[in-house]
Amino acid sequence: MLIAHTIDDLRQALAPYRRPAFVPTMGNLHDGHIALVEQALPLGDVTVASIFVNRLQFLPHEDFDSYPRTWEADCARLQAAGCNLLFAPREGDLYPQAQTFKVHPDAALADMLEGHFRPGFFTGVATVVMKLFACVLGQSGGTAVFGKKDYQQLMVIRQMVRQFALPITVVAGETRRAPDGLALSSRNGYLSLQERQEAVALSQALRQLAQRWGQHAGAGVELEQQAMDGLRARGWQPDYLTVRRRVDLGVASAADGVGELVVLGAARLGGTRLIDNWEF
Ligand code: PAF
Repeated sequence: MLIAHTIDDLRQALAPYRRPAFVPTMGNLHDGHIALVEQALPLGDVTVASIFVNRLQFLPHEDFDSYPRTWEADCARLQAAGCNLLFAPREGDLYPQAQTFKVHPDAALADMLEGHFRPGFFTGVATVVMKLFACVLGQSGGTAVFGKKDYQQLMVIRQMVRQFALPITVVAGETRRAPDGLALSSRNGYLSLQERQEAVALSQALRQLAQRWGQHAGAGVELEQQAMDGLRARGWQPDYLTVRRRVDLGVASAADGVGELVVLGAARLGGTRLIDNWEF
C-alpha cells in the first residue's frame, strides 16, 4: 500500500488510474471501516482510503484533541484489507491556509438532529469531503463509500454530490455491529467496561421504538418521549430518538409505510456521545 501525505504525491500516485474507489475516514479503524474498504475493492481500478481528523467538524468543547489516533494499527489493517493507496494529509497539507471557503449544506437537511446538537458539524464535514473528493476523485470522478451508521452525513454527502453535479457515485455501507448489537464506532473506545455493557441499550431502544411505531404510528411524539425517558432512567442523556422518513429525514407520520422509515438516536452515556439508527 502506497502512502501519500501531500496532495501532489497523491495525484502522482493516482495518475495511472481512471476510476478510484474511495473510503474517507478519520482513522482509529474498526471492522466497520474495513468492511467499507472491502466493499470499495471491486468498485474501482484502485482503492483509496484517507485518514484525516478534521478539526472543522468538531466544536470547541468536543474531542478533537483526544480523538484516538492509531496510525500503525490503521496502516496494517488497511494493507491487510487490500487497500492500494492511503491519503493521510497533515493538517498543513489539507489546510495550508485557514479554510475560510466552506460548503454549507442545505439547512433543511443539515440543521436538524446531529446538526441541531452539533452546530456547524455538517459544514465541517461537507467542506472536508468536498476537498477530499477534489484530491482523490477530482481528476476522473469515481466512487465513494460511506457508512450508514452516520445516516444524516450520508444524506448530506449524497445531496452535495447531486447538487454540485460531481462525477461521483456514492455507495452506502451497512452498519457493522458487535455481537450484542452495539454499532461499531471509534468512540466506543471511550466507554468504561461497565458503560460498554450498557451501551447496547441505545440500539435496543431504537429497535423497540421502531417496533412500537409499527403498532401505534399515530402516537409518534409520545413513543419517542417514552423511548428517551427509558434511556434516561438507565442513566443516559439522550439528545434525540426519533422516527423519520428515509427520503428527507422529515418527521414521520402514520401515512408513511414500513420500508420508508428510519429511527435515529443520539445519546450520551457518561462522557461518550453515541449515535445509531435502524431502517424499518
Ligand atoms: O465519517 C467520518 O469519519 C468523517 O465525518 C469523514 C466523512 C471522514 C469526514 O471527516
